[in-house]
Amino acid sequence: MSLGRSRLDTLLAEKLKIKRKDVRLLLAKQQVNVDGRRAKDVDLIVDKFSFITVDEMVVQDNPAHYIILNKPIGVVSATTDDIHQTVIDLLDYPFKDQLHILGRLDLNSSGLLLLTNDSRFSQRLMHPQAKVSKTYQVTLDKPLTEDMIEAFARGMYFEFEDITTQPAKLEIISEHVAQVTLTEGRYHQIKRMFGRFRNQVVALHRDAIGRLTLDETLKPGQSRELSAKELSFFAAKDN
Ligand code: URA
Repeated sequence: MSLGRSRLDTLLAEKLKIKRKDVRLLLAKQQVNVDGRRAKDVDLIVDKFSFITVDEMVVQDNPAHYIILNKPIGVVSATTDDIHQTVIDLLDYPFKDQLHILGRLDLNSSGLLLLTNDSRFSQRLMHPQAKVSKTYQVTLDKPLTEDMIEAFARGMYFEFEDITTQPAKLEIISEHVAQVTLTEGRYHQIKRMFGRFRNQVVALHRDAIGRLTLDETLKPGQSRELSAKELSFFAAKDN
């Protein structure tokens, strides 16, 4: 995934098919604006989401998008699929084909899914060191037991990946319902963790990612752009 960052003079020379010395001239004549501000420096770092005009002419207008979706059961967390409807099929935005998914949910899981065209945002959020929490409501086939709390907190060894899972929080809500908070996203992680207790997950719903929660206004299959406030929950060092 390209992070789409470059120097302003490189980008303008490329977009306008002019020489870098001519870019310097445009800057000297104060004709270049980046994100609504007069640009002065050739070495200003811009990215693919910077809004750039030269003398009122729009040179680059490609805004970043951050979408929250309430994923229904039976829809696949992928951009294309030969068999199932995909989460992209549920969206109705002109830019939907630019989006990628942050942290998939299984076919038979539901709830909060984030999609974006901003790969820097997703790389930061998905980085193991970021430890962004993800909260799930989990319904089990058999009753929950207290020893599961300790086992989730301690971590479990997954032989296939040769890793021990990060400490996870398990709260028993009722006999068959738990709230589980993870800071990572291993393949079928919650199902595999309860599998150690021979307890099958019968329903799994993601309620929150960090401080972002799925409220009732978004019905299964519905989506919207994140508000500026919601986006600020994911500002660096604020998860
Ligand atoms: N853990 C799972 O097992 N499935 C999901 O969809 C998410 C977490």
